[in-house]
Amino acid sequence: MYNKTRVKNDSTGKGRDNGLYVERLSMGKEKNNIVKTDDLVFEYIRRDEDGNVEGITTAVDHVDISIKQGDFVAILGHNGSGKSTLAKHLNAILYPTEGTVWVDGKDTKDEDSLIEIRKEAGMVFQNPDNQIIGQIVEEDVGFGPENLGVPTEEIWARVEESLKAVGMYEFRKKSPNRLSGGQKQRVSIAGVLAMHPKCIILDEPTAMLDPNGRKEVIRAVRALNDVEGITVILITHYMEEVIHADHVYVMDKGSVKMQGTPKEIFSQVEKLKQLRLSVPQVTLLSYELKKAGVPLPDGILETDELIRELKKVQ
Ligand SMILES: Nc1ncnc2c1ncn2[C@@H]1O[C@H](COP(=O)(O)OP(=O)(O)O)[C@@H](O)[C@H]1O
Ligand SMILES: [Mg+2]
Repeated sequence: MYNKTRVKNDSTGKGRDNGLYVERLSMGKEKNNIVKTDDLVFEYIRRDEDGNVEGITTAVDHVDISIKQGDFVAILGHNGSGKSTLAKHLNAILYPTEGTVWVDGKDTKDEDSLIEIRKEAGMVFQNPDNQIIGQIVEEDVGFGPENLGVPTEEIWARVEESLKAVGMYEFRKKSPNRLSGGQKQRVSIAGVLAMHPKCIILDEPTAMLDPNGRKEVIRAVRALNDVEGITVILITHYMEEVIHADHVYVMDKGSVKMQGTPKEIFSQVEKLKQLRLSVPQVTLLSYELKKAGVPLPDGILETDELIRELKKVQ
């Protein structure tokens, strides 16, 4: 039944004993680096028909990031700022032009580590329709581990656990075609989860979804981080999705222009505007109220917080 495995994931290899997987990941937020880039540069080179270089785009320009195991990290940035190019380095789809990328201590340029890296750092893309290939939900989720050579019995256990983790277990017998965008995207996430990654990289996973779908997906992703202890790297341009992150990187023109906690980042409304980014609506409202003379702190992220602060004012 898993005859399409090669399409779904091109890594192959033996399964490993994952008996300790959940236990190990949920032992609290271990703080070793799971992802690290050192002076990463990536250039797209355009060539004409004769192979002569026509132009070079430096999509990632001397980027240093380090992401701790168990963290929820968000990456923000205007279109074309280099987010997707950076993300593709984190599971060895692209390799550095200069600099180094480590995933769980392994250099992505080291070919011997490729399978392990692809397994440890799973990617979820914008369009769920491009990621789901199974005719039935549970079959689709099983492709990844099948491809890794996981024994059949364990595949089913993983399918069950992964679908439950994203709240899609009751849809396991359904055809993905009948699901909403948010549901499909949760199935894609379950597909990655079933490979037992340490880290999930989501490249604008909610960009094609309606507000409900966005909420469902973000809720599921937060649970993976909170409950399962999986490192999450979320690329988004919806500011509301960032407020619970442990750390935020803001990219522009290929480099990291700001980083800090959501509160630190969203306190800098003017700077974000210069980078063509906004802030969450409630942050903007608080900012405008403050400018109009209401004594409020910077970087209010949630409605409850604004209400509490406004009550103090009276
Ligand atoms: N396949 C490609 N070939 C050439 N240039 C590209 C390619 N993909 C992206 N770029 C360029 O690299 C820069 C960064 O793009 P990207 O990483 O997709 O940014 P983001 O994900 O933040 O929108 C942009 O200038 C974009 O035009
Ligand atoms: Mg992108």
